[in-house]
Amino acid sequence: MNILAPSILSADFMELGAQIKEAEQAGMQYIHYDVMDGMFVPSISFGMPVLASVRKKTEKFIDVHMMVTKPERYIENFKNAGADGITIHVEACDCIEDTLKKIRALGCRAGLAVNPETSEEELRPYLSMVDMLLVMTVHPGFGGQKYIEECTNKIRKVRQMIAESGFAIDLEIDGGVNRENIRKTVDAGANVIVAGSAVFCGNITENVKFFLEQLR
Ligand code: DX5
Ligand code: ZN
Repeated sequence: MNILAPSILSADFMELGAQIKEAEQAGMQYIHYDVMDGMFVPSISFGMPVLASVRKKTEKFIDVHMMVTKPERYIENFKNAGADGITIHVEACDCIEDTLKKIRALGCRAGLAVNPETSEEELRPYLSMVDMLLVMTVHPGFGGQKYIEECTNKIRKVRQMIAESGFAIDLEIDGGVNRENIRKTVDAGANVIVAGSAVFCGNITENVKFFLEQLR
């Protein structure tokens, strides 16, 4: 199934509750929640307390994307704050297998992400331990960047890797998705589509409806 996962990083935080409701009413399926630590990526976003507030207001699946060094330190905290899925980066973690197992043991869906400059082969050893793979289509750290065209081929390769593995694994992409390129990413094999600025800048209802139409 194709899923739209709006990233609230691009929301207006003074209006966060209302904007989430609007995206929800327009049909958003997941909420993508970007955690940035100022180490793995240059910027700092938000953490557990904001997630706990969001959790109180929505039943939607909350997809936590941890752009955090040594994410194993915070898995329980994010689970307790309300995460449904937790994605860690291969580049950020020295104990990937244990951390993925911990995420699943806590009852969350486990995700593993790769940056644009990291080979998709880094994902292969973990195919039996993940529910989702995340191919970054920008260098992580900020919303509103331009989609890196070379990543389309990587999406294809990861989709093929998933198919060959025989496991039911979602393929998420994140960064620079817009009205012009969304279809291309789905055709390449992505099925969970993150979009931040393209959803929250402008008319949220119209944006969500447009993207959902593309994902049918
Ligand atoms: C980037 C984040 C993204 C970001 C996407 O580092 O992981 O989730 O919010 O924003 P857009 O869709 O504006 O590129
Ligand atoms: Zn993200």
